[in-house]
Amino acid sequence: MTKIELLKEFASGWFGNSQQHSIHAQLLANRGYKKLADMIMEESNEELDEAKKVNARLIELGETPVVSTTSYPVITDIKEMLEYDFKDSMEALPMMSKSLALFDDDYVSRHMIEQFILDEQEHLNWVKTHLNLIKEIGYENYLIEMLG
Ligand SMILES: [Fe+2]
Repeated sequence: MTKIELLKEFASGWFGNSQQHSIHAQLLANRGYKKLADMIMEESNEELDEAKKVNARLIELGETPVVSTTSYPVITDIKEMLEYDFKDSMEALPMMSKSLALFDDDYVSRHMIEQFILDEQEHLNWVKTHLNLIKEIGYENYLIEMLG
């Protein structure tokens, strides 16, 4: 895979993931979990921003971005939603780190992806904390906390 192909794949992945988070946040808000909905909508906005940054970089590199959105499942169960995010981040992080090798000759793209890796790690920490809370205080108590 070339670095351009990879950048296009990243953009498509983040557009898709951002949409998934946004739908999850809307579903949660509709059910009254305002606090959790706000946190997940924030993640959605961050990923949309990342997708746009990748497209901006593609344009800087003389490429034309494409309209593409990787498909993600919509999950209604809150615990399953968090578990999906955990699994997704755990898989994405090593893949993103490995991809840096393709950008040895392109410090700007490399730096951008390094920032994305830091954000993804932060999100993974957030998900871990929430899964731990469920374990420690119990699912029902967790859900009450997330009503906000
Ligand atoms: Fe995500």
